[in-house]
Amino acid sequence: MSHLEPLGSRLNVVVFGATGGIGRAFVEALQADPAVENVLACSRSVFHAVDEKVDVASVSFGDEDSIIAAAQWRQDEPLDLVIVATGLLHSDQMRPEKSWQELDADNLFETFKVNTIGPALIAKHFLPRLRKDGPSVFAALSARVGSISDNQLGGWHGYRVSKAALIC
Ligand SMILES: NC(=O)c1ccc[n+]([C@@H]2O[C@H](COP(=O)([O-])OP(=O)(O)OC[C@H]3O[C@@H](n4cnc5c(N)ncnc54)[C@H](OP(=O)(O)O)[C@@H]3O)[C@@H](O)[C@H]2O)c1
Repeated sequence: MSHLEPLGSRLNVVVFGATGGIGRAFVEALQADPAVENVLACSRSVFHAVDEKVDVASVSFGDEDSIIAAAQWRQDEPLDLVIVATGLLHSDQMRPEKSWQELDADNLFETFKVNTIGPALIAKHFLPRLRKDGPSVFAALSARVGSISDNQLGGWHGYRVSKAALIC
């Protein structure tokens, strides 16, 4: 039984952020799904494919050419589903702001690069690859805290605004 039946069968699916917690879980679920024929697992750091259904591509948001190269995958066939599961809340160099007084231009730029600009560049190069003669889906993971209706606590300003911008 496939959860992807509405999209049809023999599906070609792309996952960005395949090394992340959610992205890896998507790849594992997709490789086990009988409706899926091929998966492209895209990541910045090395992703080790464990199934012959899964191809890998190295993609970094600082390098648009790497996104263009990934968009050549199975270029004679339409894509049925593209999932963007990349994201940045904190890293070794930065932590989420607890107050607006902690706002930092470099951290804001990096957060927007990963959470907003990267997914937009993926849309630029992958939307034209989606199936046109049937249903297809492009999905990018936002966050509940990027919603105006969940904005009571404050903090995490860069993450929140970058996720709100992603929705736009
Ligand atoms: N986990 C949650 O509870 C939760 C809640 C709400 C929303 N979300 C959203 O769901 C998505 C996935 O979350 P997660 O918990 O799976 O995150 P995660 O484990 O931190 O994974 C993030 C992914 O983004 C990639 N990435 C980071 N910087 C990148 C860059 N500059 N270029 C290309 N790729 C980059 C990472 O690749 P590398 O391995 O190369 O660093 C990694 O694959 C994110 O958008 C997150 O904001 C998560």
